[in-house]
Order: sequence, then C-alpha cells, then structure tokens
Amino acid sequence: MSGQEPVLSRVFSMEIARVTEAAAVAASRLTGRGDEKAADQAAVDAMRTALNKLDIQGTIVIGEGERDEAPMLYIGEKVGTGKGPALDIALDPLEGTTITAKSMPNALAVIAFAEKGNLLNAPDVYMEKIAIGGGFEPGLVDLDREPEENIRLLAAAKGVAVEDITACVLDRPRHADIIASIRKAGARIQLIPDGDVAGVIATTEKGTGIDIYIGTGGAPEGVLAAAALRSIGGQMQGRLVFANDEQRQRAREMGVANPDHKYTLEEMASGDVIFAATGVTDGSMLDGIHRAADGSVTTHTVVMRSRTGTVRWVKARHVSESKFGT
Ligand code: FBP
Repeated sequence: MSGQEPVLSRVFSMEIARVTEAAAVAASRLTGRGDEKAADQAAVDAMRTALNKLDIQGTIVIGEGERDEAPMLYIGEKVGTGKGPALDIALDPLEGTTITAKSMPNALAVIAFAEKGNLLNAPDVYMEKIAIGGGFEPGLVDLDREPEENIRLLAAAKGVAVEDITACVLDRPRHADIIASIRKAGARIQLIPDGDVAGVIATTEKGTGIDIYIGTGGAPEGVLAAAALRSIGGQMQGRLVFANDEQRQRAREMGVANPDHKYTLEEMASGDVIFAATGVTDGSMLDGIHRAADGSVTTHTVVMRSRTGTVRWVKARHVSESKFGT
C-alpha cells in the first residue's frame, strides 16, 4: 500500500488478539461457577490491563456502561499508553455473562478498534437487528419488512427452499411475533439463550448453518457485530429501541441526532476497523479456553481487518497461565 501508513497499522492485528485472549482466559476461570458478576469483572480487569499496555491513545465509545455505573472500561475512559494513534474502541470483555456462569456455548471476549469518529456511539439500550452474510444485492433484507417476507426474499436469492433457511433468534418472550412470522414462512429457527454478537457473525459462516439473524438485543453488541461484518462481509441494519423518554434524551446527548434512525452497517462502523473475538466457552465460531495437564492454556481467536478483508484464525498455546499477559 503506497502513501501514508494507515492509522490502524497491521501490527494491531496481533496486538488486539492479546487483549481478547487475556479477557477470555480470565473469564474462563469462572466458567460454570454461577457467578456472572465475578466472571464479567475478571474479564474487565484483564482486558483493561492488556489494553493499557498498547501504544495507543484509545477512547472507549462502547464499553461497560457510563462512568457512574461502571468504574472500569466506561464510555469515555482513555486507555493505552497515550503514545500511539488516536483510536475509538468498542468492547465487551465478556459477551455472554450468563452463558459463562452456566458453562454454555458461545461466550466471547470481543473488541473493535476504529479510527476516531467511525463507530456509532450507541447508548446502552436495545437495538432491533437484522443481518445476513455477504454476496447478496444491497438491501435484500430490511427491518421494516415482516420477518416472513425477509425469509422468502433470502431463500429466493440463495436459490433454496424457504424450509432450508435457518434464522437465529434470541430466546426471549419479546420475540414471539418474530418467531411466529418466521415459522409461518416455514423456515427453521435456532433459538439462542444469549450472545447475539456470535449470532450475527454466524450468518457469515457457512459451517454454522445460520442464514439470517433477526431480533432485538443490546445496542452495544449491535455495533460490535457491525464492526465484524464490515470486515468479514455481510449486511446488517439496526434501530435503537428506547424504554422511555429519558433513554431517548440520553441518546440525543450522546450525539444520536435522530433516535428513530434505521442504521446501515456502514453507519454503525465505518472506515478502517479491526475486530477481534476470543472464545471463552466452545462455540459455533470459536473454541473456548482449554487448559492442559502441563499447565498450558489454548486460546482461539478470530481477527478481522476491514481494510484488507483478512480474517485470521489464531490458535495460541500459552505455556503458563500464571505468566499470561506479561
Ligand atoms: P451480557 O453478556 O451482557 O449478559 O449480554 C448477553 C446478551 O445476550 C447479548 O448478546 C444480547 O445483545 C443481550 O444480552 C440481550 O439482552 P437481554 O438479555 O436483556 O435480552
């Protein structure tokens, strides 16, 4: 590549993996222990320590919450040594706190780096989401269409029967209408207990068997999933959902000009983005953390870079857990 070195240099592709590895290893010590908060805290501490070793001037734009409710990795917190490029960071040190506490599949440590101003500063509210993998005409599916219709359009574009389409939906009572509409079309549904970042990304991977993600989940998770899809390819739309006027007002104060806007993928994550996720528990995309009798720890991470579209699968064996992150 000629000209100026990009802000998000290639070096970050390895550096970012160390950050999610550290969080995932820390969280995995609490897998199956029934303590969501402890697992989340362990991931937060480890991710923050790892981030602060990087030569970046990082600002958290999607984090653990606002400063008064989250003492670490809060929105607006500065991370890194303060020496390198100015980056905006979206993170979820433990995406799937309940599934970790219950030792169920698909818990991840997740982070995205972007050039300043390129990630939607979404408040911690819900977001309606729809996502499909890459290779389709733009706008093939749309949040404003009935799920049933989106499923039919997708089946036609794939050249398969509607019965061969599988939709991923979070298992929540609020999704009763969506589930009914998908079933009416005749498609299969994979109901997931938690973890819609993995659910959205699953639409891009053939091996998962998931063709489309539909439903309402966290807005921060929506931005993280968008960052991944920017790199790996795929379509996604998101629209914020507010429980009350106070949330709506808070969104305006965070710079959301039109709270009812239907965001495209590029409006949620634009420019140069690097995304990384490390498996905490075994999942459809990534293996979880595994410990061997000799004390070594294996991590499985995916790193995606939007500039090149490179998707790296990094399987790492760390000799000793005690030295992890040093
Ligand atoms: P946590 O890791 O914060 O528990 O989030 C898990 C998750 O399932 C997300 O993947 C999803 O976006 C959100 O919770 C859905 O929220 P809710 O559990 O309130 O339906």
